[in-house]
Amino acid sequence: MADLSINFAGIKSPNPFWLASAPPSNSGMQVHRAFEAGWGGAVWKTIGAPVLNISNRYGAWHYGGQRMLAINNIELISDRPLDVNLREIAEVKRAWPDRAVVVSAMVEPKAEAWKKIVMQIQDTGADGIELNFGCPHGMSERGMGSAVGQVPEYCEQITGWAMSAATIPVIVKLTPNITNVVVPAHSAINAGANALSLINTINSIVGVDLDTLAITPSIGGKGGHGGYAGPAVKPIALNMLASLGADEKVMNSGLPISGMGGISTWQDAAEFLLLGATSLQVCTAVMHYGFRIIEDLCNGLSNWMDEKGYATIDDVVGKSLNRVSEFKHFDLAFKAVARIDQEACIKCNLCYVACNDTTHQCIDLVSPVGEIVQPYSYDVRSNGKHEAVGTRAHPVVREADCVGCRLCYNVCPVDNCIEMVEVAPERASTTWDEISRNEPAVTEDWDAMAKYRETHGIHIH
Ligand SMILES: Cc1cc2nc3c(=O)[nH]c(=O)nc-3n(C[C@H](O)[C@H](O)[C@H](O)COP(=O)(O)O)c2cc1C
Ligand code: SF4
Ligand code: SF4
Repeated sequence: MADLSINFAGIKSPNPFWLASAPPSNSGMQVHRAFEAGWGGAVWKTIGAPVLNISNRYGAWHYGGQRMLAINNIELISDRPLDVNLREIAEVKRAWPDRAVVVSAMVEPKAEAWKKIVMQIQDTGADGIELNFGCPHGMSERGMGSAVGQVPEYCEQITGWAMSAATIPVIVKLTPNITNVVVPAHSAINAGANALSLINTINSIVGVDLDTLAITPSIGGKGGHGGYAGPAVKPIALNMLASLGADEKVMNSGLPISGMGGISTWQDAAEFLLLGATSLQVCTAVMHYGFRIIEDLCNGLSNWMDEKGYATIDDVVGKSLNRVSEFKHFDLAFKAVARIDQEACIKCNLCYVACNDTTHQCIDLVSPVGEIVQPYSYDVRSNGKHEAVGTRAHPVVREADCVGCRLCYNVCPVDNCIEMVEVAPERASTTWDEISRNEPAVTEDWDAMAKYRETHGIHIH
């Protein structure tokens, strides 16, 4: 069985799964219960400056019958007294020496305030400190959270203050509310941070109530931007994680990265590991389903590692980073076409409509007697009755015309019904980068581009 244990910048935990700093890690009682359930660690809900929280603080985005595809929050940091949090952190750490107890902190941007909170956290016996440079709402108006994370100079200065007092590892948690997440990562490295984590929440408004016209959720008629998290943000988090992995300075620094943002399943977890995360933090999925999901996360990850022959988490970390590239390096001669499994097809026409209305008009509808037909508007026989399927027209891709955009594949409601099949390239392999170097005019001038297409038999429709 795979060994799931990790050593993250010196912080050890029996598995890579930590509660993210958020409501599930708000108190000693909760973290005790999470550890009983099997969580490898917890990043305590951010402690620091005095705050008052409000009601209606979580909005959610539900879609297509699925609840809480994303959560949006205007919660501040912990509103429980600092001394209570510090006492409970110490109690939890004493009771669970083998688990990772990391404490998230945020105070006003003053050297003394930061040094003081760092020393208070260290006195609890905690394993590490996470600097919350990400909270995009409420705290940022007071010069904290993303107000720090968005300005590289502040990020470097405050990390430096924390480092000057810290004797335990310091993790800098990056905000995604920035164009290039690599920039604040460099600031953290310059200041001597021991590790990075990402992503904190993304600025968002989840909706408007069409009856009252108020922003959702409404706080006495008012609403505003909050932090977005959950399954919907996973692609953004993965991209930011990969961009750190592709950066020379980050890689040379050797700093481990704690990845989070939309992890709900063991498959998500494996993807974060493959793109360079060493520990994994989870918030929204725990808020949705409770602490018990840790069993599925650990079992699923462990089974997958066994199947693939990975003995340790280190064997997995970063294994897909060498697959991340840029458009200019992609092979322009690569070709895939859509192929439909007629046995699996339920003849719903969605692929036809998508291709015909919005992409390249290369799917035909073919009647049972082999004639190309126009789509019907409504077929009474199709009302869920299987016998009608045999008499309806079926979609057929004209492969020579298919540009392989993959839209039909994405809209088809039947799993594995449409396959994108790699076919032999029609011309020699080349990349945009190579064309720019060998025939620069082609990339700068439309007439030269037309000639290039003619020479290479590239027909665009
Ligand atoms: C309700 C809520 C409260 C949060 N509070 C904090 C916090 O106090 N400190 C912090 O660093 N991040 C906070 N976060 C962000 C999470 O730690 C995490 O970065 C984010 O939710 C992405 O992970 P997820 O997609 O698994 O939820 C909060 C998130 C939510 C949803
Ligand atoms: S891959 Fe794109 S172009 Fe090809 S059939 Fe599907 S929708 Fe049409
Ligand atoms: S979308 Fe899928 S199921 Fe529907 S007609 Fe096209 S191939 Fe068949």
